[in-house]
Amino acid sequence: MKKSKITGIGFHVPKQLVTNQDLTSIMDTSDEWIRTRSGIEQRRWVQGDEAASDLAIPASIKAMEMAGVNPEDIDVVVVGTISGDYFFPGVSAQLQAELGLRNIAAFDIKAACSAFVYSLSIADQFIQTGQYTTALVVGAEAQTKFINKSTEGRDIAVLFGDGAGAAVLQVSNDESGILSTHLHCQGKDLKNLWMEGPGSSGDNQINTVTIEQAKRFEPYMNGREVFKNAVVRFPEVIHEALEKNNLSMDDISLIIPHQANLRIIQSVAKRMGVEQDKFYANIQRYGNTTAASIPIALCEAVEEEKVKEGDTIILAAFGAGYTWASAAIRW
Ligand code: ACO
Repeated sequence: MKKSKITGIGFHVPKQLVTNQDLTSIMDTSDEWIRTRSGIEQRRWVQGDEAASDLAIPASIKAMEMAGVNPEDIDVVVVGTISGDYFFPGVSAQLQAELGLRNIAAFDIKAACSAFVYSLSIADQFIQTGQYTTALVVGAEAQTKFINKSTEGRDIAVLFGDGAGAAVLQVSNDESGILSTHLHCQGKDLKNLWMEGPGSSGDNQINTVTIEQAKRFEPYMNGREVFKNAVVRFPEVIHEALEKNNLSMDDISLIIPHQANLRIIQSVAKRMGVEQDKFYANIQRYGNTTAASIPIALCEAVEEEKVKEGDTIILAAFGAGYTWASAAIRW
């Protein structure tokens, strides 16, 4: 079996910067409430006709430039998103066209906050088996278009942001690369974090959607239940990655968790008995960007030289489904 390696990364966020203070003018909330409960200080929101592909395209171009690959080199595109431009087809089809790629395999993965790690794992399998040699993996969200930005929707609205991050994976010729990936789902509590519509459940026909039904077209979150599950699954899936590779926490330079909530990250570090600094956090600047959060955090961690050649890192995710996942990577 071959091994895959991340050879290029890039991210892009919308121009519109929304601070906690800005939110107080459109809903009943406060900087203090948001900071103490989530750690978030600001986020980026798409505006006007800006959509997920508008963020995914520049992020992908940056990753391809860093990897030094041309459009014709890409063999497969996997995009993690729950807020693609269209209900179908996926953002991956837009990337295939807009980036000028060959008529290669391109598809979207709807695993919410775990979708980047899921997508990375899928691309890694293709490269390991030798089916493909170069993959483009993207996490992209313009999810705030679905969010109720009034006091009624404030529990969700203050937490989320938009953005995209991308990675190019290629065959590794040395010790560096993806060591293992671990994917999980438990659907029994899926309604604790979900958006019911648009979907085929229920008896509503799209041409007769009522205001009540349209309300289902915005996310719902049982925050306390999500918190309780996240702080258990994150440590589990991080330990799984360590065990699979016979590593101890001392071997790990940095853990890059999905940026759900600073309190979740702090609580996971505490439960695991690991110093806070080992968990990368940039949620303060971007909020929770769902599938985009891990690749954006990875880009910033590399820029800040918190991830250097030869380091072993772990990406860890938890989100709607519930899904959770990890990847151990030698950089
Ligand atoms: N601003 C001001 N007040 C608010 C806001 C807001 N934005 N949102 C809710 N409130 C109010 C509520 O109405 C409630 O008021 P009441 O006491 O008068 O009824 C009060 O604040 C407390 O509300 P709770 O929901 O009990 O707040 P809690 O302390 O549980 O914090 C939170 C909510 C931050 C969502 C918390 O449950 C949490 O951290 N959950 C984790 C889930 C999470 O962060 N998910 C991220 C996305 S999912 C993922 O990526 C995996």
